[in-house]
Amino acid sequence: MTDAAAGERRVISLADGSQMPMLGLGVWQVRDGQGCVSAVRWALELGYRHIDTAQAYGNETSVGDGLRESGVPRDQVFITTKFYPARKDPVAEVERSLERLGLDHVDLYIIHWPKGGPTWAWPGMERARELGYARSIGVSNFDVAELAQLRATASIAPVVNQVQFSPYEYRRGLLDACREEGIALEAYSPLGTGRHLSSETVRRIAQPLGRTAAQVLLRWCVQRGVPLIPKSTHRDRIAENAQIFDFALSEEDMAELDALDRTGGTERALERTWW
Ligand code: A2P
Repeated sequence: MTDAAAGERRVISLADGSQMPMLGLGVWQVRDGQGCVSAVRWALELGYRHIDTAQAYGNETSVGDGLRESGVPRDQVFITTKFYPARKDPVAEVERSLERLGLDHVDLYIIHWPKGGPTWAWPGMERARELGYARSIGVSNFDVAELAQLRATASIAPVVNQVQFSPYEYRRGLLDACREEGIALEAYSPLGTGRHLSSETVRRIAQPLGRTAAQVLLRWCVQRGVPLIPKSTHRDRIAENAQIFDFALSEEDMAELDALDRTGGTERALERTWW
């Protein structure tokens, strides 16, 4: 697919037939409470239809409250949560998540990171899907070798691998391997947790387009065909981050952004693991 064709897509089809909106709101490091409720409600009011939380974030209750406060029907919103792999049982943990969220299923349930190896939790993830607790199942922070190990034992293949991804972390090896296996690579920290916003290159590209550095970084993911979950708790920034489907980066801009990669086109999901 060309950059331009990828840039038109608002929704991506997962290998199991589910549809995931390209843009989601991430709520990592957003404390449970009114700030989180408001961020989720604003995002939904502003047209987001995808929210990404996790058991480890401790804010699923607020995500559920924000969803209900927004008035947007449940079936129009794609909700992701993540299995916290310090726990033992993905089924028991998703039951708790659903209680906190006030929902009867999530759209996507992913293993947050491959603590203790890439395979042990997967039968529980498959069971969570079979029980209807999750429409789709996947992983996060898995590298190419870990995906291969998982595939060798899985009955149901993972459909998503959520990893840190941006022009500075352009993990081409991992992206290519995911595509070959029908796994959608999804970008977390597409702004480099805010660090990449001060990039000279990104700012220089943004200026003549009349766009912000954030919009250029996010649009780069869209044109690479990669769904993304930028995080913000500010209404104006949540709005700004959604204005990325009404302009395009040129091939030269894309190439210049690609060249910012500092991972050497790695197959790895992370440069340093925290587990
Ligand atoms: P805040 O939540 O205070 O708005 P990432 O998505 O890569 O993890 O980046 C998130 C960080 O970037 C947060 O610190 C967030 O701050 C900040 N951020 C998100 N969107 C914007 C934006 N449009 N302009 C400036 N900073 C932003």
